[in-house]
Amino acid sequence: GMIPKVRSWNLKDVKVSFPKRATFSHKGSHGKGLVIGGQELMPGSVALSSRAALKAGAGLVTVATMERNIPVIANYCMEAMYQNLSNFGHIDLAGFDGVAIGMGMGRNRTAKTFVEDVLAQEDVPVIIDADGLYHLKELLGMLQERRSPTILTPHYGEMAMLTNQEIETIKKAPFTMAKEFAQEHQVYLILKGKYTIITAPDGTQMVNATGNAGLAKGGTGDVLSGILLAFIMQHESVLEAMNNACFIHGMSADLRIESGQNTVIDLLASDVIDGLTNVFRTMS
Ligand code: APR
Ligand code: MG
Repeated sequence: GMIPKVRSWNLKDVKVSFPKRATFSHKGSHGKGLVIGGQELMPGSVALSSRAALKAGAGLVTVATMERNIPVIANYCMEAMYQNLSNFGHIDLAGFDGVAIGMGMGRNRTAKTFVEDVLAQEDVPVIIDADGLYHLKELLGMLQERRSPTILTPHYGEMAMLTNQEIETIKKAPFTMAKEFAQEHQVYLILKGKYTIITAPDGTQMVNATGNAGLAKGGTGDVLSGILLAFIMQHESVLEAMNNACFIHGMSADLRIESGQNTVIDLLASDVIDGLTNVFRTMS
């Protein structure tokens, strides 16, 4: 298809738009984030998201997950706080500056009521990923009604599911598909792939080219959701937060390879989190 003229977000853009950490800042200045997900057999997903959010600068992170998984997740992310999600009741978003929902959440009906509950609450930006997108399929009508930003992070398969299209159709016109969806539903959209396409509700688009084949491994998307949560809470502009999150996620993976700390074969999602240090060192 036709290749649209969409600009690539670059390191200079990141450096200009990245918020400075003030000397007299306190944890409240950097956002209170909530990560919701992690069904019984998928504790790693939210562990990665919450640790990524903290490593990306979030002030406070709470994880709402299944009771039995809390000790496992806390072992990897001891700085987070926890809420028991076992009963899948109502969760109060008051006091949170951002929410990321869906990672490893599972596809049973009770999980869907949670996505619905979160979308119905106003005044807090919501990031929806993975199984959250699966449930969103039946809740698309709620999106236009929201008054705070909604950010969706599908890979091509999830985008195909959301739009009722074949993956091949998305691959033929990813920019157009992304733009139409973002405008129709008034959402921010991150269509993830080798080249990630970032779209705002007004149709503005940017492409991210950092990252490598080492990222083609389970868990790296969960890390992106966590970085995104941290950035959404600290940037003035949602679009800049998204662009920076995608750039830095990929740059961390690239630096792990270039420095010889990993190869594209052994890179793990957790290495991408650890590698954020290399990225932030170049920021100041
Ligand atoms: N080059 C550059 N970047 C890549 C490459 C590549 N070859 N492959 C993947 N990436 C990046 C993507 O751009 C994205 O940021 O890695 C990330 C992968 O995210 P996901 O596809 O969501 O992968 P994953 O972490 O496994 O998702 C976890 O959520 O999407 C569901 O079905 C998925 O259950 C799984 C869970
Ligand atoms: Mg994913």
